[in-house]
Amino acid sequence: MKSLILWGAGGHAAVVLDIAVAMGCFESVALVDDGRPDCSSLPAPLLGSSRVLLSMPQGTDCQFLVSIGDNQDRARCFEAGLRAGCLPATLIHPSAVVSPSAVIGRGTVVMARAVINARAVIGQNCIVNTGAVVEHDCLVADHVHIGPGAVLGGGVQIHPYVSMGLGAIALPSAVIGDSAVIGAGCVVLDAIPALATAVGVPARIVSRVPVYSGQ
Ligand SMILES: CC(C)(COP(=O)(O)OP(=O)(O)OC[C@H]1O[C@@H](n2cnc3c(N)ncnc32)[C@H](O)[C@@H]1OP(=O)(O)O)[C@@H](O)C(=O)NCCC(=O)NCCS
Repeated sequence: MKSLILWGAGGHAAVVLDIAVAMGCFESVALVDDGRPDCSSLPAPLLGSSRVLLSMPQGTDCQFLVSIGDNQDRARCFEAGLRAGCLPATLIHPSAVVSPSAVIGRGTVVMARAVINARAVIGQNCIVNTGAVVEHDCLVADHVHIGPGAVLGGGVQIHPYVSMGLGAIALPSAVIGDSAVIGAGCVVLDAIPALATAVGVPARIVSRVPVYSGQ
């Protein structure tokens, strides 16, 4: 059995930790964090800063997953981990439904009751949050967050660093551009340009600068 180190010990990490434990396939799970998080209520030890992870000798039977909600921060840590030779884990909650023909990238977490249907492709270092649905033939790029209860219709394309808010919906074949932020409850009918923030039903663009950190 391998052990797992989660990089990031905030609220999102608490959920990821529960998933790692529920999977029952890790000998041990521990955390590292570069701040001063209060981990007293978490059932896993805080080993110290990310240096503990990044200085582990290569070939160790230990995987890592970045448990940080912000897409940019998560990407930075993920790339640093890969550069240091750390092995990324992929976490899938036992209650999630993942088609055998779907592909889930390294470093991605699929949370409880999420559904990923046939031929969907999810990139690296993504979050498919609790109860989200990714329909058949969707293409989700790296470092994306699909929020709790969000739904992607068939054939939707999500570009890197996109954040889909709680309960947001993208209709079939919609395309959401790089780093766009889709507000909670928003319904995307067709296309959202890169760097836009969209809200409402149907989606209207309220900003062209990313403002939502994903936390
Ligand atoms: C879209 C979002 C990022 C906008 O945040 P913001 O840039 O701080 O925007 P503001 O709060 O200044 O709102 C800008 C306008 O959009 C409206 N608005 C904001 N969020 C909205 C939403 N989800 N649905 C409808 N309208 C929304 C505001 O009422 C405001 O309208 P106005 O200009 O007519 O007054 C944020 O509201 C949101 O929905 N975040 C999603 C959070 C989430 O789901 N996280 C997942 C955690 S796991």
